[in-house]
Amino acid sequence: MIARVHAAARSCLILVASLAIACSDPPAPPATTSEPRDPTPRLEGLEPWSDAWILAHGESYLEDPRARREALEGSLTQPDNLYSQARLAQYGHGTRGWDALPEWSPRTLPIDRARADAIASGAPIEVPDDAPRLTDGPRPTTWREWVALGRRVFREMPLRSEPYWTTALRDPEVAARLGVEHAPDGSVPGLVLVRDVDGESRVGITCALCHSASRPGARGAHDEGWVDGRARRTLDYGLARIELARSFGRTLEPEAEARFSSWGRGRADVLEELSDVPIAIPDLYALRELRWLTQGATLRHVTPLALAVRQETQFVQANHLRTRPPRVLVWALVTFLYAIEPPPNDVQVDAEMLRGRAIFERECADCHQAPSWSGDPVALDRIGTHPELAEGHARGTGTYRPSPLVRVSDAAPYLHHGVVVDLASMLSPDRSEPGHRFGTELPIDERAALISFLGSL
Ligand code: HEC
Ligand code: HEC
Repeated sequence: MIARVHAAARSCLILVASLAIACSDPPAPPATTSEPRDPTPRLEGLEPWSDAWILAHGESYLEDPRARREALEGSLTQPDNLYSQARLAQYGHGTRGWDALPEWSPRTLPIDRARADAIASGAPIEVPDDAPRLTDGPRPTTWREWVALGRRVFREMPLRSEPYWTTALRDPEVAARLGVEHAPDGSVPGLVLVRDVDGESRVGITCALCHSASRPGARGAHDEGWVDGRARRTLDYGLARIELARSFGRTLEPEAEARFSSWGRGRADVLEELSDVPIAIPDLYALRELRWLTQGATLRHVTPLALAVRQETQFVQANHLRTRPPRVLVWALVTFLYAIEPPPNDVQVDAEMLRGRAIFERECADCHQAPSWSGDPVALDRIGTHPELAEGHARGTGTYRPSPLVRVSDAAPYLHHGVVVDLASMLSPDRSEPGHRFGTELPIDERAALISFLGSL
């Protein structure tokens, strides 16, 4: 509780400093602590979280401002943090705030092999006047059509332009340093060419920069060797932030520069000026099963509208409050996120794993439950891991969500800030990183069995 008060006080200071808002009256606590409800009508008879049930939410997200507002309010776990306050003030008011921003459906071009080669040999960054927009086609009607459009949004719709990445397209050494990867088909997932809001052609970043990655040998529903939804743990976004500032001729405060360099690979903070806490980029394999979103459990996920509002407002904030994305594209993106499946896991179940499973049931299943192996948020003083995110003024809730464990053996480094190098260290009594001591007192053979079981998830 002390932490919460402290965080609220800090948030006031920041608000005063940056927005000149009076802070004598702290924001009122949520009116009710009851379960938020799903604002979408006519869901009877549909299996919750089935494709059909998700699809049935499209109309209320797309057409009903009140449903969007209700979903927002119902989803914010901690209305006092800056993340929540910005949204409560600006989102879902119909004709003002972020709803009044101009809708922006950019002309964008993915970087396929031919385009990557051309840019590498010096071709200009150029998006022609007649380049397509993602909204050019007919509005999807079936689940398959929505997901197909959503895949394109995930890969091709820029959150904003970031011209610095052009260097990475021209210089393989810079690309390797920043974690820009080429997919086996020669394309560069996560970077696109975009006709920017001001009409200039630039390089932009998409969801795929952080949330898709190579995985040698991956097959099945995925493009050979490339997995949508897999965290890009090679990405050094902090370094990119420093280089981006330099490329604009800006010098960062030494403190800010030190923060960004400390992020290292696979960690980012997408809240920009609100926050610079490094958070591990998560895999997006089990969204349908998660009743809480983000590692600090900032959002209740009782309705797909909660995720749609999250993504819509992420686009707004990322593009510096200049534009809002077409909701048709946001809704398509959300259906795609729900359709993402983890890469197949080929391990054979053996006796050691079954033994590990029984130990897991005994020691871990209070918090990590199938099928996502996540669960309800755990208070910071119980879990005891690094407090900065949970206590932070930007999006702190005083809790952490039990991490989903789907494909966990492929998800190192661990914990919300990505600091524990492997599963053996997670369960080691000698681990120096504090918190989450579960399993560390078990005999070594039981820990080995647990790790074996985790490898089957
Ligand atoms: C610069 C890297 C970056 C980009 C670009 C990015 N994300 Fe993320 N994403 C993150 C990080 C870091 C988190 C963890 C945030 C947290 O837990 O508080 C995250 C969390 C999420 C989550 C919550 C997952 C969970 O386990 O609850 C979803 C969903 C998500 N991102 C979707 C997207 C989509 C869709 C886009 C494109 C519109 C996108 N992200 C763009 C880095 C990024
Ligand atoms: C009291 C609830 C609780 C129990 C019991 C628990 N966990 Fe966790 N677990 C969490 C929370 C909360 C996190 C996220 C903490 C953080 O990121 O700061 C987590 C994170 C993890 C992670 C990190 C995954 C990743 O991708 O970063 C692993 C692995 C894990 N738990 C395995 C286990 C195992 C194995 C056990 C049993 C020996 C166990 N947990 C018991 C709550 C729990």
